[in-house]
Amino acid sequence: MAIASSGDLSAAIGSDHDRLKDLKAFDDTKTGVKGLVDAGIVKIPNIFIRPPEDMIMTSASDLIDIRIPIIDMEGVESDRRLEIVDEIRNASESWGFFQVVNHGVPVSLLDEMIKGVCRFFEQPDEVKMEYYTRDLKRKVQYSSNFDLYQSTAANWRDTFFCVMAPDPLESHELPAACREIKMEYSKHVTRLGTTLFELLSEALGLDPNYLKDMDCAKGHTLLSHYYPPCPEPDLTLGTTHHSDPDFLTILLQDHIGGLQVLHHNQWVNVSPVHGALVVNIGDLLQLISNDKLKSVEHRVLANRVGPRISVACFFTTHFHPSTRVYGPIKELVSDGNHAKYKETTVIDFITYYNSKGLDGKSALDHFKL
Ligand code: OGA
Ligand code: NI
Repeated sequence: MAIASSGDLSAAIGSDHDRLKDLKAFDDTKTGVKGLVDAGIVKIPNIFIRPPEDMIMTSASDLIDIRIPIIDMEGVESDRRLEIVDEIRNASESWGFFQVVNHGVPVSLLDEMIKGVCRFFEQPDEVKMEYYTRDLKRKVQYSSNFDLYQSTAANWRDTFFCVMAPDPLESHELPAACREIKMEYSKHVTRLGTTLFELLSEALGLDPNYLKDMDCAKGHTLLSHYYPPCPEPDLTLGTTHHSDPDFLTILLQDHIGGLQVLHHNQWVNVSPVHGALVVNIGDLLQLISNDKLKSVEHRVLANRVGPRISVACFFTTHFHPSTRVYGPIKELVSDGNHAKYKETTVIDFITYYNSKGLDGKSALDHFKL
């Protein structure tokens, strides 16, 4: 992989002052990475160039042809349930990631959702810019790089974020380009999420309603990502390696690829499967399961072709004021298996995660006992 030498790189990165100026100028365009590509750039701006230590990771991409588990959910309410629970337990303990098929969300709806995201990002700038913000408390946010001013290098991606539950938005608060499809998708993904929390409860040896009763399925946000084609994909990333700050993520990705999961110190491709949804355990589920279920690091490579579209549904309640505290579930701790984490509220966890930005370190460490 072509990597700029460290000498070139420090010159390219320039002083902190220049960098801040460049970040601000990029932010002020309110048209994100897509705006740069639309303007016809052929070299990526310095603010996107990653420090050498990150590129070592990228160049060590031992892309072995192993796949994250694909779980067929057909028969989940009948004969196959125990088998599915077993598959989910194994995948969640060893990979933290799996794909599901026959999950009950119509494939045509998945295709429509991807088109809806394209429509939002590809509409005239003036309409889209109305939604541009860095206020992480807003329920509808269009931005590029939520951690733009904290991270060492910006990601080659733009994002549209909205909170869908438990306090649904009024339909007019959502952009017309994707309003209806977002509402419809949200309904379906709530149903699938609820089923997955039942199965995960059973996988932990708990009552099927256990995680639902803890409000894990109560809220969700949708993050629609737009990864424009990148002229120098070896110098930057689509998304820095991170784990998700929620209970569970259901991810829809298009056919382009680039998502990778860290498994036994190797980056493994999460190959697109049309009609499938990717499911991964979030930090909060690792915390309450006392490390039984794993919230695993993942990242997205930049790609010469694109755009790549993905929609991450984060099950979290941080937009719903709640003082409920989450710590390791008491049934899962014992004399020989002590609680590994302090209790926290969802909002405290997210606030810490967002203040840190995507720096490649797990937010969970901060809550370890
Ligand atoms: C995320 C994420 C992956 C992707 O939103 O947290 O990891 O494929 N997205 O966009
Ligand atoms: Ni993620």
